[in-house]
Amino acid sequence: MKILIVGGGGREHTIACKLSESPLVDKIYAAPGNGGIAQIAECVPISATDIDGVVKFATENSIDLTFVAPDDPLVLGMVDALEAKGLKAFGPRKAAAIIEGSKVFSKELMKKYNIPTAQYEVFSDSSAALEYIKDKKCPIVIKAEGLALGKGVIIAQTQEEAKEAILSMMEDKQFGDAGNRIVIEEFLTGPEVSVLAFTDGKTIKPMVSAQDHKRAYDGDKGLNTGGMGTFSPSRIYTPEIADVCMKEIFIPTMEAMNKEGRTFKGVLYFGLMLTPNGMKVIEYNCRFGDPETQVVLPRLKTDFAKILLAIVDKRLDEIEIEWYDNAAVCVVMASGGYPQKYEKGYEITGIDEACKEDNITVFHAGTALKDGKIVTSGGRVIGVTATGANLDAAIKDAYKAVKKISFKDAHYRTDIGIK
Ligand code: AMP
Ligand code: GLY
Repeated sequence: MKILIVGGGGREHTIACKLSESPLVDKIYAAPGNGGIAQIAECVPISATDIDGVVKFATENSIDLTFVAPDDPLVLGMVDALEAKGLKAFGPRKAAAIIEGSKVFSKELMKKYNIPTAQYEVFSDSSAALEYIKDKKCPIVIKAEGLALGKGVIIAQTQEEAKEAILSMMEDKQFGDAGNRIVIEEFLTGPEVSVLAFTDGKTIKPMVSAQDHKRAYDGDKGLNTGGMGTFSPSRIYTPEIADVCMKEIFIPTMEAMNKEGRTFKGVLYFGLMLTPNGMKVIEYNCRFGDPETQVVLPRLKTDFAKILLAIVDKRLDEIEIEWYDNAAVCVVMASGGYPQKYEKGYEITGIDEACKEDNITVFHAGTALKDGKIVTSGGRVIGVTATGANLDAAIKDAYKAVKKISFKDAHYRTDIGIK
């Protein structure tokens, strides 16, 4: 089988690695891929949001399955465009990807179907939003409706910050049209956990749990980033909690999407918070998380390609999905300055040395091949994943590997997996 992976970050490198282990897969292409993916797949210079380009490539190269990994092409309808040409695609159609593409849609879905989430109001007018927050206590959470590279959520600590957030989203259009409407919601507290689930619309099978570290610096200080590291399993997600989530959140969400005529096929990501009043949904994503994938997929025992085909053909109920009884930790090494301004083009050394250990994989996120050398080409550069018998062992080995790798101004957190 020939597979085309759309995307070019650490998540897509992990997907490519896992698919390359499958006996069902003969050849992998990536659009556009990156310096790491290029070592196991053929990278083609088509951007991840170029729907016509991807459809044309898949048609001309008789691709058997196109895996659309990032949120933006899914929300734009890449899967619909591929299917319209009779091509097989993995990922939700546009009508279902809206669960991530519009926070107004997802909040209304949860309210309508009694899926636990933070209380909220929607505003399409900034003066009404400003009036609403006047007698609300802080912190309060302000969210742009649309996709905003993970930066569209502001936890306002004061009325003044809330006002600024509302004005910058709705008046200054900081996130463009994504801020035409906003959600203002109650601030919840508690530990967070990410659960990704395979679903074909009939059956939903959660993967092993994970937790992300979003802030740039140790101790959850600094700005929010795309994710500075992850670990799996979560330390709080017990089998009892998993049962409750299945009954109150996962199955109800799948069924709600069916009832709305928006059957979801692909990977549904549940961003959850364990509040004093039970587990609540903080957000949905319509895809694998990045860098959650870098700790979840290495723990998958069942043939990944087999699962993807079962979902596309709506027979997920027929297969059993097995996981290794271990743990995984991913430490992201970023460019100095990230998530703000940073330089690119620095040579990265030590990756081969770090990968000599069987339990270490280095997933490339922002790298490129230049004159035969791997150089930095993005904010999050690589994710160093270690597997181990338990979290403590995996943490120790991940950091041992990180110390072998270097590039100018490299920055990483030293507390991934600890909290
Ligand atoms: P989101 O992009 O919706 O996942 O939000 C990003 C992060 O903001 C989440 O991972 C939470 O840490 C935080 N967050 C979002 N909504 C809330 C909320 N209602 N209360 C507290 N924290 C929140
Ligand atoms: N790591 C969070 C996300 O993928 O949205």
